[in-house]
Amino acid sequence: MNPVRAMLLAMAGSSTWKKLLTGWGVTHRVVARFVPGETLDEALVAVRELNAAGMSATLSPLGENVTTEDEASAVTDAYIEILERIASENLDCNISVKLTVMGLDLGEEIAAVNLCRVLEVAAKHGNFVRIDMESSAYVDRSLNVWRDTHARFPAVGIVIQSYMRRSGDDVERLVADGAALRIVKGAYAEAAEIAFADKREVDAEYLRILDRLAKPDAGANGVKVAVATHDPSMLEHGRQLIDEHALVGWEFQMLYGIGKALQRELVEAGYGVRVYVSYGPSWYPWFMRRLAERPANLGFFLRHLLP
Ligand code: FDA
Repeated sequence: MNPVRAMLLAMAGSSTWKKLLTGWGVTHRVVARFVPGETLDEALVAVRELNAAGMSATLSPLGENVTTEDEASAVTDAYIEILERIASENLDCNISVKLTVMGLDLGEEIAAVNLCRVLEVAAKHGNFVRIDMESSAYVDRSLNVWRDTHARFPAVGIVIQSYMRRSGDDVERLVADGAALRIVKGAYAEAAEIAFADKREVDAEYLRILDRLAKPDAGANGVKVAVATHDPSMLEHGRQLIDEHALVGWEFQMLYGIGKALQRELVEAGYGVRVYVSYGPSWYPWFMRRLAERPANLGFFLRHLLP
């Protein structure tokens, strides 16, 4: 892995760096590029703007692992509140959830019970919920919770990371299950034994997964695909597959504040585009992962330090 990326990902998990960087006003100014605000109201303003520009959205309040059932339950209530607000304001928006903030460290069952509470409300409003994929320690447990809950609530999706060596096998099982999949490259620091370290391999696997999902059996099983990347060559490949195979249920997804011109271009060309809007006060680890993804972001950050 690129040493700058490795350093930034290590800093994402460091409480010392967190204290130092979150104390600086300059960090807050840079973060504002990726996070539209700290409150749901501020995030909803961004969602309305995206909808007006012809894009769907997915809302994801930022949070960190919880350690008690009460905390997990409070986060679950917050997810439900978001679904209620989306419905009452009639927005084109779903939500993305993290199982670690719904109690996954306390047990799969606790996370699944909490997720079902969220899915019941989503079902009431005809909405959809995506389970984000976190670091490798959570992949099996996240897939288990997805499988458990999907049996009762079809409108729940999951994420596949192309840097994981196991992903090809996971995709085969998920195709058989008729899953709604978001395909990403992967954002965490992982050991070379389980994840491709070379970006070329991550990219090649990304394309292989898209090709696999474009096969007729996937569509016939009801598989839906979100091509979630800002990489122009991955986007182009996704476009070609959609056009060539007349794929339905495919959309493009990008992060708020990143690749805005690409987002507009896809909308103008008639493709479905959904923007992932993260918000909230716990933005530190999320922000560090965004810095790690692109050295230019680090330059942008450092330039703000100059008088
Ligand atoms: P890549 O990193 O190769 O970048 C390609 C180009 O995109 C860069 O050259 C640059 O131009 C631009 N770019 C990429 N990142 C940028 C940034 N931070 N700032 C500015 N420009 C940038 N991961 C995960 O592990 N679990 C998850 O659940 C999700 N969920 C998710 C949802 C959505 C909608 C997206 C778009 C991404 C995720 N991710 C994720 C993150 C994902 O794994 C990955 O880290 C980022 O998308 C960056 O990878 P790219 O595919 O953009 O390609």
